Amino acid sequence: MASPKQDSKRTVTTNQSDPGTSTTGRRGLASNTVDYGDKDFALFLRRAFIKGAGYTDEDLKRPIVGIVNTGSDFNPCHGNVPALIEAAKRGISQAGALPMVFPTISLHESFAAPTSLYLRNLMSMDTEEMIRAQPMDAVLLIGGCDKTLPAQVMGALSAGRPFVVLPTGPMLSSQWAGERVGACTDCRRLWADFRAGRLNQEQINEANNRLVPSVGTCSVMGTASTMACVLEAMGLTVSGAASAPAVSADRVRVAQASGEAAAALASGQISMPSVGMAQFDNALRTLLAVGGSTNGLVHLAAMMGRLGLALNPDHFNRLADDTPVLVDLKPGGQGYMPDFHEAGGMPRLMLALGERLDTQIATVTGQTLAERLTELRAQGRIETHEQSVIRSADNPIYPAGGLQFLSGNLAPDGAVIKPVAASKSLLVHQGRAVVFDGLEDMAKRLDASDLDVKADDVLVLRGIGPLGAGMPEAGLIPIPKKLAAQGVRDMVRISDGRMSGTAAGTIVLHISPEAAAGGPLSLVRDGDQIQLDVPAGRLALLVSEEVLEQRRAEAVHTKLPTVSKPRGYGWLHGQQVLQAPQGCDFQFLRGDA
Ligand code: FES
Repeated sequence: MASPKQDSKRTVTTNQSDPGTSTTGRRGLASNTVDYGDKDFALFLRRAFIKGAGYTDEDLKRPIVGIVNTGSDFNPCHGNVPALIEAAKRGISQAGALPMVFPTISLHESFAAPTSLYLRNLMSMDTEEMIRAQPMDAVLLIGGCDKTLPAQVMGALSAGRPFVVLPTGPMLSSQWAGERVGACTDCRRLWADFRAGRLNQEQINEANNRLVPSVGTCSVMGTASTMACVLEAMGLTVSGAASAPAVSADRVRVAQASGEAAAALASGQISMPSVGMAQFDNALRTLLAVGGSTNGLVHLAAMMGRLGLALNPDHFNRLADDTPVLVDLKPGGQGYMPDFHEAGGMPRLMLALGERLDTQIATVTGQTLAERLTELRAQGRIETHEQSVIRSADNPIYPAGGLQFLSGNLAPDGAVIKPVAASKSLLVHQGRAVVFDGLEDMAKRLDASDLDVKADDVLVLRGIGPLGAGMPEAGLIPIPKKLAAQGVRDMVRISDGRMSGTAAGTIVLHISPEAAAGGPLSLVRDGDQIQLDVPAGRLALLVSEEVLEQRRAEAVHTKLPTVSKPRGYGWLHGQQVLQAPQGCDFQFLRGDA
């Protein structure tokens, strides 16, 4: 990928209102004054305080770009945020605006209990309200780890302020025991080998030192990279933002260009593109073409909900039928994110997708996507060398349907599968249900030597939906130890939870309504026959309606645990959280609330 730079250089005009007393125009420092009943006094006071930090009157005339700082010692995926802020500030200042950095919540997958999705809406509320509350004309959203970019975009869309997205970028890949490894597909693969006895304790400890060789987001096409790619195709980033490695010079240049773009938005020199179905269709096409994370569907549904739009499963399946998987990265393929960047990143992929994308949409740099790609091509900044990571549409990794919505009596409101990461032999399968009621039950019984389980059974994990457990990424149910020891590497596994974008297997996820909300998943019993038919888009429980009606009366779902709490955020979550088709957003945050 050629070095990123801003697609069109701009210099921002400054705010000409009187910096001493005027609140006219309500831009820059004069916007969003605190409510004392005297706006001029509120501005006078604000100016007095900010001058305590050494700012001059000249500084304070400028349009303001807020920079969201999600750096945190608990979030190594954001370990490069200080460097990105420095570069973004340079871009903003050189373009004539004033950068102002402010903190919000930061979420890392491994450090946010019970789950990062449970906290995503809290981060989105924090982001929305801090954008709304503070004086800024545009905002630069620096995020990366899985839930952070969705939370930030949800918040910014609701706040209605111009914004530019700056992903932290993927980490590097590494080597262990003579093979290339990277977080976190290989974390899961090596752990499965350890569970099956193929690796010993010393080996797994050694691997632990090698899996994450730098700061940055996971080095495969997991949720973080999926969302970054999707946002570039929506025109909400500068070019190259999705793929430049976190610790590369390209990433620093992306940060500077993002700052320049945000400054142009802040000055009103260019307008924030409106976001609608055309952008979301580009997002869905990209999600499919990169063989992206199933989590992307949850986050895109939540973003759409903020604008009063809905993700229609039939529409998505139609797009899927016409969108090949073109990117050969783990977990579905072979490569790692740095390979994608070197192959040409999103600009090259967008060219490969051709008319499947709407390139007439406007971007945050003021150009349409088409104009951006034309300019990049004219400048020789789109890679054209021979490579195998980004395929052409006539030589895909997978011809179509990399992700698919399912429906049936077990999932009346839908479920999701990632066929590209599944075992082809299991895409049509019928088997006996082996049921676990939540994570604790599964942890207790899964590896028991007396568990009645065979390789062709269907493992069912319920009680891990948004209400049940904050929808953890536990849908990749481990293969029971005794089967793993026999060499079984995949089984049909179904749940109302999610799966990490870095995971693979024949896994049905997001079954809706979830069991804890009384969905049919709560009616399944050990030994029931479950039928999965991916080509037909069907997930069925082969039990008569008469029997199901009897089971309904037992209200098993009321005995399942929920993540709801009697007070605080847990109470709010329990009251408000919606199901996966609505993106697990809170009802009161949606655009139609
Ligand atoms: Fe942060 Fe994977 S854990 S992106």
